[in-house]
Amino acid sequence: HTTTSAVNKGRPVVPTQEGRSLDALHSIPVHKLRAQAAATEALTVPESYPHFTPFVENKKQYDEMYKRSIEDPNGFWGDIAKEFHWEKQWDEEHISYNFDVRKGPIHVEYFKGGLTNICYNALDRHVAAGHGDRVCFLWEGNDLDQDRKMTYGEVLEEVCQLANYLRSQGVQKGDAVSIYMPMVCELPIAMLACARIGAVHSVVFGGFSAEALAGRMEDCKAKVLITASGVMRGNKKIDLKAIADSAHTMAAKSGHTVPRVVVYENERAGGRAACSFTEGRDVWYAEAIAEQAKTCEVEWVEAEHPLFLLYTSGSTGKPKGVVHCTGGYMVYAHTTTKYVFNMQPGDTYWCTADCGWITGHTYLTYGPLLVGASQVVFEGVPTYPGPDRCWRVVDKYAVKQFYTAPTAIRSLMRAGDLYVKEHLRDSLRILGSVGEPINPEAWRWYHDIVGDGRCPIVDTWWQTETGGHMITPLPNAWAQKPGSATYPFFGVVPVLVDEKGNEVKGEGEGYLCIKQAWPATLRTVYGDHERYETNYFKPFPGYYFSGDGARRDKDGYIWITGRVDDVINVSGHRIGTAEVESALVAHAKCAEAAVVGYEHPIKGQGIYAYVTLMEGVEPTEDIRRELINTVRGIIGAFAAPDVIHWAPGLPKTRSGKIMRRVLRKIAAKQEDELGDVSTLADPHVVEQLVALRGH
Ligand code: WTA
Repeated sequence: HTTTSAVNKGRPVVPTQEGRSLDALHSIPVHKLRAQAAATEALTVPESYPHFTPFVENKKQYDEMYKRSIEDPNGFWGDIAKEFHWEKQWDEEHISYNFDVRKGPIHVEYFKGGLTNICYNALDRHVAAGHGDRVCFLWEGNDLDQDRKMTYGEVLEEVCQLANYLRSQGVQKGDAVSIYMPMVCELPIAMLACARIGAVHSVVFGGFSAEALAGRMEDCKAKVLITASGVMRGNKKIDLKAIADSAHTMAAKSGHTVPRVVVYENERAGGRAACSFTEGRDVWYAEAIAEQAKTCEVEWVEAEHPLFLLYTSGSTGKPKGVVHCTGGYMVYAHTTTKYVFNMQPGDTYWCTADCGWITGHTYLTYGPLLVGASQVVFEGVPTYPGPDRCWRVVDKYAVKQFYTAPTAIRSLMRAGDLYVKEHLRDSLRILGSVGEPINPEAWRWYHDIVGDGRCPIVDTWWQTETGGHMITPLPNAWAQKPGSATYPFFGVVPVLVDEKGNEVKGEGEGYLCIKQAWPATLRTVYGDHERYETNYFKPFPGYYFSGDGARRDKDGYIWITGRVDDVINVSGHRIGTAEVESALVAHAKCAEAAVVGYEHPIKGQGIYAYVTLMEGVEPTEDIRRELINTVRGIIGAFAAPDVIHWAPGLPKTRSGKIMRRVLRKIAAKQEDELGDVSTLADPHVVEQLVALRGH
């Protein structure tokens, strides 16, 4: 079992065995939990907020609905699904699943027998009901004077044009399309166009490098790549097309040539003049759709037809292509959006996430459109041109529900209250948080300053794999506790288990698992069902294992403590330490690398890399920079290590396993809490590392 060894030249670079032995999981940080709980117990927040009528009015109503969702999922989800258009009705007993590896292959199925299309339900359904003139997208560009409105009718027409174009290029049901775009309306439009014709989209976040994009296009054998000339993010210009070009070349070299590249011309980042163009392969987006009809026949697909792949980082190995399917995902995206944001059709909502992450899939492209909301699509960054940008935009469009990540909240909090207070924000009703644990201080600031104490906070715990919210407050339905995700959403049965896989009942800590299927359960890992089973279902047989630790308090509230595996969460971006290690050792002078997370005041977690250089190479500032650039080049700038710690040696057991626990303690400056290090092959390594700590 090599999963705990660091990447080391001469030994397997990326461990192939994905399963984690339980001793590789971090222990749950109990002391931190207790301190957090004690600190927040004293804080009081209102029991209820008077400014809206919640769909779920109180805990009693929730309890009843929750009970039915668990005991009669066929009926519960079936009743909700009736709101949608189904070309063919699903069977009465439409759900089947197996979550227990001991009983055979893991499988999940919802709405068996049904035929539908999520694009139809997100767009055509509203237009057919007479809402074609309702604003769908409120696009806000990087600069203050750039904006654009698109109605549901207009979005539908453009989706149809692009869908027709993709069909004309031979894209068929089940084919993969890669999307590498900035946050322009054409990004969700491209996703919806794929869904309309049954193609499977794979959106790659615009911050990923050429190599990362190449790997993803190759893995899914993309038939088309949809990209853009470039984008401005704050003052920075990013030449997406240049990156896409090198990705195309890399993918071709390793065996997959993407036949067609559609390029959206972004004039704000230089446009055509500044952009390379390969005749015969590339086509401008505007020209591709210009000749196409504005209607396009829908491809009705089975409920279990794959809707998208989204690559995400795990403990080990290459990023996994998480597969979500049409029917269950659609119903779950809709239901969570509706209840968690208390969202009515026509509400103005803003989620700051990029469509390159799961949040942008479920709570930008799909959920809000299924509900029929009007939503802001923001190209820029929250701090440009100044730290008041978000509140300016909130006022400009009268945003009712605002959804962002704790890292953004912390950085805006640091800029000071004045930036918030110079804007009214009186349209706000609900504030959402996602991506990482929110610390009680940031929670209070969000609640008291941004929301003026008028808006409940929905701290939504979920993952790429879960497709939608799993543990979250429902606004106004029960009392909040700053920092707690509170109770499970309908249909979700979370359990805490100990090292042996026994359920921890009542108050206590444990590894966070889910006991039964929910509609948006990931169905497989693309091309590797075994990896899916090993990674999520084998660690604790009978359960889906999330990779997070959690605590349940005396009131049954759930507090997420963060990852217990080797995944770290940097500014809400999920990064596998093994990926960063393998990028570092790609540098010729790096002999070995081990990466851990450490607490970072703004980013939540930072990336801390221990690097052993090749024999005879002296550490220098230049090498440090080169190493960081290597990671930027292989993964993307967001994965660049914050700290490089020169390590003449790494703490290993006699069998050669790296003791990451020790590395995490040293990074956290807690070497007095190292615990038992008697199994280390060379205990002096620890002193040496502490002495060399640079920060
Ligand atoms: C973390 C993002 C605490 C968690 C939707 C999870 C959270 C990982 C929360 C998934 C939250 C997400 N409180 N932790 N409200 N939301 N996380 O796949 O560690 O990018 O496992 O999905 O983010 O990250 P992913």
